Amino acid sequence: MDTLPENVLRPLQRTLDLFEVTPDTVREGVAYFIRQMEEGLEHDSDSHDYLPMIPSFITHIPDGTETGLSLAADLGGTNFRICSVELNGDHSFNLEQYKTKVDKQYMVGTLESLFELLARLVRYFLSQHHQDQLQSSEKLKMSFTFSFPLDQTALNKGTLIRWTKGYDVPDAVNKDIVDLFQKELDKLALPVQIVAITNDTVGTMLANAYSSLSGHKTVLGAIFGTGTNGAYAEKLSNIKKLDPSVVQKLQKFGIDDMIINTEWGSFDNKLEFLPVTIYDEIVDSETANAGVHLYEKRILGMFLGEIVRLVILDLHKRHLILEGYEQMETSLKLVSSSSSLVSLTNLPRRATTKRLSHRVLSEWAFPTEALSRIEVDDTKGLKVTELVLSETLHLNTTLQDRIIIKAVAHAVTSRAAYLLSIAIAAVVLKTGRLGITLENGEVKPTKLNDELVEVGVDGAVVEFYPGFKEKLIEGLGWSQLGDAAKRVVVTIAKDGSGVGAALCTNSHIE
Ligand code: GLC
Repeated sequence: MDTLPENVLRPLQRTLDLFEVTPDTVREGVAYFIRQMEEGLEHDSDSHDYLPMIPSFITHIPDGTETGLSLAADLGGTNFRICSVELNGDHSFNLEQYKTKVDKQYMVGTLESLFELLARLVRYFLSQHHQDQLQSSEKLKMSFTFSFPLDQTALNKGTLIRWTKGYDVPDAVNKDIVDLFQKELDKLALPVQIVAITNDTVGTMLANAYSSLSGHKTVLGAIFGTGTNGAYAEKLSNIKKLDPSVVQKLQKFGIDDMIINTEWGSFDNKLEFLPVTIYDEIVDSETANAGVHLYEKRILGMFLGEIVRLVILDLHKRHLILEGYEQMETSLKLVSSSSSLVSLTNLPRRATTKRLSHRVLSEWAFPTEALSRIEVDDTKGLKVTELVLSETLHLNTTLQDRIIIKAVAHAVTSRAAYLLSIAIAAVVLKTGRLGITLENGEVKPTKLNDELVEVGVDGAVVEFYPGFKEKLIEGLGWSQLGDAAKRVVVTIAKDGSGVGAALCTNSHIE
């Protein structure tokens, strides 16, 4: 950056500053996040004004000593997975699984055809791996990870609010998903009973708690995959929206906590806190679910590459980068008039040679994996960056272009990591487990302790993006957790949804 001429450096710096997240921003975000959690625990889950905070009806948090065989089915994105998990009671497990793509005709077909297909796949799986079980009179417990918005009223009752991720089976909306699936399993006379319907983050939390050998409590299970979300255990007495008769029944069994699926991708849908750049606005407008899950759209891998691509186009339009390429009026879709950038579109044209490639003008053409290669490039002349930009966006760049693009990649992903630390710090503070909590925005001590707590995270960006996890942890230190952040251990909970879902069956109360 030091080598950039002043007339480039200054306007570039102004753009990079748009992505800056300061310790104050993190603290403000944490206080607001906790307020949104509290509101969500009191009110219905489908408002835009606060976090959905969906009660999972999962009340048993494993400690690694659980045993037994159960089934787990998982319908999310385009795949259906079915597995059987044998818990050995010593943090370890044996897993058999079968995964298959769901054909488009079923994703947009009839209710019966979809659930009949799933039931047939369960039968196929049992015939391959548990033939003996098919004849058994004893039913196997099955948990169903169904990562679509659900209105959940019991461990095994969830009504579909709407389909997402390319599914559209209209007659399933507003119906109880467990009921639909169980009917089809029964038609095939399969010895399987669905005892739980759940979310992938809940599974991640349970899987981490079961598998962890550290002895630390797992306080949060989080996913950074095709979406981002987190689940944690909340005191029953704080979940004000729960039916009091449910609370009483659980308390009779000595149960005090329930796991909450926060659906934090929806944090601040009203945009009262989150930074808003013109690039964020454009990215949102490019998505099918514009106007919601706005937190997710500033953090997730697939969005980061797109934000960087839009910044590159904007810098080009402002004659700060890629000067060898012709200016194209259509090269950046400016959907907002709120940005000062709009006025810069009228700059005089310069002598140009080439047109920008179709790739760089195409939405979603810049993968996050490319950003990670750029961020670690320490070669002389940024040769790796040169190759990556040429391969992915078909761009020929000068060294100056590459220095600028590297700085942009760094700014965009740093913002993502620091924003993510807000959710994690907020949940950890909300649990009070580290001996501090936040009440009306003020830090309050709870029970003093020197415990370490674990946060189980599943997601490629946290796992593989160079420096992302470190920034996340730095952000936790900026939050109201302060020094206590050093006692938060972020672990990678790889693919917990199978074993985690199987563990849900342990919350089944007859
Ligand atoms: C989306 C879904 C949420 C899921 C998350 C991670 O945010 O709304 O239910 O947990 O993606 O897969």
